[in-house]
Amino acid sequence: MSLPAFFWRYARHYAGWGLLAAAGIVVFAAATAATASLIKPIFAEVLLAGDSAPGPLGGGMAGIGAVDAHAPAAPGVGATPGATASAGRGPATDRMVAGAGAPSGTPAPAGTSPGAGTTARASKGGRSDLLARLGQRFNLSRQLDRGYASLKRRLGVGPAQVVYFVPILVVLVFFLRSFADFLSGYAFQRIGFGITTDIRNDLYGQIIDQSSRFHADHTSGELVSRVVSDVALMQSAVSNRLLDLFQQTATLLVLLVLLLTSHFRLALVSLIAAPLLLYPIVRFGKGMRRTSHRSQERMADLTSLMAEGIRGHRVVKAFGMEPFEQQRFREATRRHLKVNLRAQMLAQSSGPVVESLGVLGAAVLLIYAGQAIRTGQIKTPELVSFLATLFWLYDPIRRLNKVNLVLQEALAAAQRVSRLLAVPNEIADRPGARGAEKVLAGVAYEGVCFSYDGRRMVLRELDLAIRAGEIVALVGSSGAGKSTLVNLLPRFFDPDRGRVAIDGVDIRDLRLGSLRSLIGIVTQETVLFNDSVRHNIAYGRTDLPLERVREAAAAAYADEFIMQLPQGYDTVIGESGLRLSGGQRQRLAIARALLKNAPILILDEATSQLDSQSEALVQKALYNLMQGRTTLVIAHRLSTVMKADRIVVMEAGRLVEEGSHDQLLALGGTYKRLYELQFRA
Ligand SMILES: Nc1ncnc2c1ncn2[C@@H]1O[C@H](COP(=O)(O)OP(=O)(O)O)[C@@H](O)[C@H]1O
Ligand SMILES: [Mg+2]
Repeated sequence: MSLPAFFWRYARHYAGWGLLAAAGIVVFAAATAATASLIKPIFAEVLLAGDSAPGPLGGGMAGIGAVDAHAPAAPGVGATPGATASAGRGPATDRMVAGAGAPSGTPAPAGTSPGAGTTARASKGGRSDLLARLGQRFNLSRQLDRGYASLKRRLGVGPAQVVYFVPILVVLVFFLRSFADFLSGYAFQRIGFGITTDIRNDLYGQIIDQSSRFHADHTSGELVSRVVSDVALMQSAVSNRLLDLFQQTATLLVLLVLLLTSHFRLALVSLIAAPLLLYPIVRFGKGMRRTSHRSQERMADLTSLMAEGIRGHRVVKAFGMEPFEQQRFREATRRHLKVNLRAQMLAQSSGPVVESLGVLGAAVLLIYAGQAIRTGQIKTPELVSFLATLFWLYDPIRRLNKVNLVLQEALAAAQRVSRLLAVPNEIADRPGARGAEKVLAGVAYEGVCFSYDGRRMVLRELDLAIRAGEIVALVGSSGAGKSTLVNLLPRFFDPDRGRVAIDGVDIRDLRLGSLRSLIGIVTQETVLFNDSVRHNIAYGRTDLPLERVREAAAAAYADEFIMQLPQGYDTVIGESGLRLSGGQRQRLAIARALLKNAPILILDEATSQLDSQSEALVQKALYNLMQGRTTLVIAHRLSTVMKADRIVVMEAGRLVEEGSHDQLLALGGTYKRLYELQFRA
């Protein structure tokens, strides 16, 4: 699946929030531009008014009022620019400098003093080309001025009230801008968290559904890192950076238009450096994506190593391997550090490089502006206000540069996640698969071949038929393929050739859920969940009454020790059931299988690691369990073998002998050898 398709699959559920965010962004950008253009009246009508009031007795004020009233209607302004310029030139420059630190916190862009605006237009009018005519229509700078003037006219704001009017307007516009900021901010968070919650759920579903082969190929550390850190990266990118991307782009565009419409030629000169800036931004982004990829992979190594060490801490200690494990971990963290430092080298140099290039552009602009001022093409206040807008452009550019880096990281994460989601599950229901409720005739392996890696055959042309209700013991040396054989029955793997059938139906034509509900499994390694004893026995069936659970536990010889636990059946057993002995855990697993009451039973060395005292109990429990079920038992103990109806001997992926204990001993082959090695000892 392509990345856009992947995003769309999740994002489309959040279209409403997307619209809300879009509305917020549009309002935000518009309010930003409005704030920028309000700077002009702030200086011209509020601050300058105070400055010039004691001067030529309101003359200054009247002059400005006149300019403002006329500014939209170009004709007849001819005389005023000069007037304003002469009246306000000196102080205007000072005001601009002070304006940069004005309490509103906004630098003073577009503070185009009224005179400046008109002069610019006058010079452009002289050129009178197509661009200029287009400019007339989309002249944002003038539109905003016009809107402001008409608002003032409609509300009847005179020179006396303007001191209150402008600050109130600034506050209102700013409130609007802040609210829009909040709206789009929250909407993007909602989208980001929503999408990543959906992705996490899908990922975990995918992981838990996957075949054993998939789990052999992917370490738990890798999977955890996908679900936890990769998705977190995506969340932060969508929630924060995507907002920046849209909001800052919109703001950037609006400010650009404002810049171009306030002084076209100067704007062109100052934007010369722009393409120069784009190149490093793109390059850094690409590098970031690569290194971030590696960083996440190294993190997965770390998680895997740590999980192994923690799970196997007893083995590590028993073998005195702490220094070795520590060293391995150190090496992994060092590799992680190296990759991260490389990423940070890119991330941290990106800003300075972009800024250094920017300053080159600024130098060019300065040279041009200096000459323009000398030749009288631009007035100083006009230039200062222009520069202020230019500086205001800087923030969106800086933020967009950051956005790019983080988005690249997130894209790399998204790629990994989508790749993982796209791994097909080879063990899946076939179309038209049907259910199965019981086993009437039996289970059959027919010409089964299997290999884990596609090269070395682990099962070769294997045939084995088990009648319903029959107990078959599987013996063979370690690595003969016994576990592999039984794992084909619940379809943890599918055979490469041949088939496994229940009552003559290929198990691949049965619904997976219904097939597995037919099978109870007890293995050597008992997995207990961090939950109460009761829930561990009734795994997945919390509706069962306690009596049923106790019955099963009693049949597994577990009831007695469970009742001695602090809270009996409600005792929570720790992670991996650490507080129980091996034999106790095994008996819990047997109780679980008993309660499942499935017609087919698989016992894979269920008793191999028990002490003799608990073994006697577990043996009895197993015997209870096997009654009346079609059973495949991989046995290490003679007692288990003796109870079987039939013994099957495996060697190197083939069935080599079968019969009763006595028959096989008399045969004097593999079984006899195994018997002497394993069972008699
Ligand atoms: N997940 C696996 N991936 C690759 N090879 C495996 C896997 N599990 C087992 N094998 C190999 O398959 C062969 C049979 O293993 P197994 O069925 O576990 O033998 P047994 O249970 O008889 O001791 C062994 O050589 C083992 O190394
Ligand atoms: Mg095995």
